Amino acid sequence: MLPVLASFAAKSARASSASSAAGAAMPATCKDFWADVPEAPKDPILGITEKFLADSNPQKLNFGVGAYRDDDGKPVVLDCVREAERRIAGKNFMEYLPIGGLKAFCDESVKLAYGEDAKCIKENRVAAVQTLSGTGSCRLMADFMHRFAPNAKCFMPTPTWSNHHNIFRDGGVEIQGLRYYKEDTCSLDYDALLEDINNAPAGSFFLLHACAHNPTGVDPTPEQWKGISEAMLAKSHFAFFDMAYQGFASGDCERDGAAIKIFLDDGHNVACSQSYAKNMGLYGQRIGCFSIVCADEAQKVAVESQMKAIARPMYSNPPLHGAALVNTVLSDPQLKAQWFKEVKGMADRIIDMRGKLREHLEKEAPQRTWNHVTDQIGMFCFSGMTPEQVDKLAEEHSMYMTRNGRISMAGVTSGNVERLAKAMATVIA
Ligand SMILES: Cc1ncc(COP(=O)(O)O)c(C=O)c1O
Repeated sequence: MLPVLASFAAKSARASSASSAAGAAMPATCKDFWADVPEAPKDPILGITEKFLADSNPQKLNFGVGAYRDDDGKPVVLDCVREAERRIAGKNFMEYLPIGGLKAFCDESVKLAYGEDAKCIKENRVAAVQTLSGTGSCRLMADFMHRFAPNAKCFMPTPTWSNHHNIFRDGGVEIQGLRYYKEDTCSLDYDALLEDINNAPAGSFFLLHACAHNPTGVDPTPEQWKGISEAMLAKSHFAFFDMAYQGFASGDCERDGAAIKIFLDDGHNVACSQSYAKNMGLYGQRIGCFSIVCADEAQKVAVESQMKAIARPMYSNPPLHGAALVNTVLSDPQLKAQWFKEVKGMADRIIDMRGKLREHLEKEAPQRTWNHVTDQIGMFCFSGMTPEQVDKLAEEHSMYMTRNGRISMAGVTSGNVERLAKAMATVIA
């Protein structure tokens, strides 16, 4: 039990024995069951949004939120999604989905993740269920591990998306840090990563970001992925890929899924979490897919049945609308081609902003190197700013981001990139 919950349980037990000792003398009042519930710590991202909203400066800027904006800072609905909405509108589809979700959606999703011609798909050995976006997929993985590999630790990069810790902790999985990022060069600590893989107990579980590592934006090269795959195979480790940004990183879904293919080609049976929040802009639809590549078809049937057994008492069955949208897009070659174009458009805008930010920073703050701004990939730029410098950006320039110096590039536009670079130069001077 978490320490805070343990102390709450003890206090509650004391309170209830005191009240029963008082017995009949007590007036009949409603018992206050939740008097000792402590306020939970604020989520770091939501805390930023609150501060941003409270700032009265009309020029304020929010670089905290991980949701795509266009060059005018406006949220975007993709045209392929609008067309899919049009096609499904008015259809008679208000019934429950099965526990595992929309089968056609899952089939399209695993093709996207593992490749149309993947051997594991041809051999019908991929267990897959529809999930509540990437978060829900990761939680299913944690619960699955807890139930069927209860003694395994899950290694995850330091740093990683902060919710990974919450998800695996609440799923009852022991977490261990995996060295990943070198602060002095803002790049991958490949040697340390390999060392940790080699030193982990054989058969350990590793959570890896398939592309666009959050929060650092630092991904291994294809050669490095190959080295990681071989090292993991030698130790019989298991790879769980969290793929929240396929297509959104490089603009090319195939390229962004390359790490998984390298692992499959080497003979790994991996697991994968997919999210359509960023790459299809379906944030609020909560649509994703969780899959495990199994040894054979019989194992797939067993594994998939257990995925459903975990999902059933949590939410019974997943929501329909997002699944229908994604399936409509992915199953129509024309709409799919349009999606590829649109996701590339989003990725290209971010890549372009990285270039502009670097250019301005090299001009405004030449005392530092800024190549990491363009070397990194995906939605986030791990700037190298300290928490104190981030605080100053908020206090003196009304610019908000997480205290680890992570800039959401989605919030950077042609109109604000120079101002951001100038403000960064002032606070790091
Ligand atoms: C690495 C990573 N995994 C998973 C997610 C889950 O996102 P969602 O639940 O919105 O799909 C995110 C979102 O920020 C992420 O960055």
